[in-house]
Amino acid sequence: MSERPPEPEATRRAAGVTESARANRGWWDRNADEYQVEHGTFLGDDRFVWCPEGLDEVEAELLGPAEELKGKDVLEIGAGAAQCSRWLAAQGARPVALDLSHRQLQHALRIGGSFPLVCADAAVLPFADGSFDLACSAYGALPFVADPRLVLREVRRVLRPGGRFVFSVTHPIRWAFPDEPGPEGLSVSASYFDRTPYVEQDEEGRAVYVEHHRTLGDRVRDVVTSGFRLVDLVEPEWPDWNTSEWGGWSPLRGHLIPGTAIFVCVRD
Ligand SMILES: C[S@@+](CC[C@H](N)C(=O)[O-])C[C@H]1O[C@@H](n2cnc3c(N)ncnc32)[C@H](O)[C@@H]1O
Repeated sequence: MSERPPEPEATRRAAGVTESARANRGWWDRNADEYQVEHGTFLGDDRFVWCPEGLDEVEAELLGPAEELKGKDVLEIGAGAAQCSRWLAAQGARPVALDLSHRQLQHALRIGGSFPLVCADAAVLPFADGSFDLACSAYGALPFVADPRLVLREVRRVLRPGGRFVFSVTHPIRWAFPDEPGPEGLSVSASYFDRTPYVEQDEEGRAVYVEHHRTLGDRVRDVVTSGFRLVDLVEPEWPDWNTSEWGGWSPLRGHLIPGTAIFVCVRD
């Protein structure tokens, strides 16, 4: 009988750009199947859902009116199974779905669609300057990278002047609370100001999963110093119709504290 590998140890310690990317590529490759089974129905194969609150681009129009997406070149960062790109393609846009994880993109292939899938790190985009009109990311890459400015500068480089980048991330306030959907997730347990990354590591101390925290001010500063103008910061409220839990996101917590922050940025 084969032995199960030991559970990784959860800790808080420094983790650099390369270590974070290597750890997260492995984690998403190992966990993509489970992620798609667990969340695929909520996300829908061809919907554009920004967050566990369920905010849909059909109602939010954060990328602009749907009828204006036709013919636009759109880059989706951290696309997973490319559900958002499939919705964009249905509006007549020309999406490119990029993800670090090969296994996530295999799920994109399984579901189907006639747009390019690119396996790459969001911090080193394999596209020429000014290739896209729009870029978007629903919880892709930015919560996981050690230096989000590398991603923001790359996105700025591949956008055309006036192009818009909209990305959702875990709301920074969540860092101070346990990642639990129940009442235990409602009491502050850590400093909001402590940027030490959350790391899961194996027996040899190698990171196998990393999440990085930025305060709200850090995120705004990252956006602005990377050459974007911040035109909106959306904090979706938990809607009554949504009775589902997603990890630490739940109706209980969602009615009390924000779970998601969506940054709407324009490349000047
Ligand atoms: C929470 S999932 C979101 C996927 C998809 N947007 C969705 O809503 O299901 C995060 C995704 O970001 C990808 N990712 C993490 N780090 C990345 C990086 N540095 N570059 C590109 N993608 C990355 C992961 O592989 C994963 O597919």
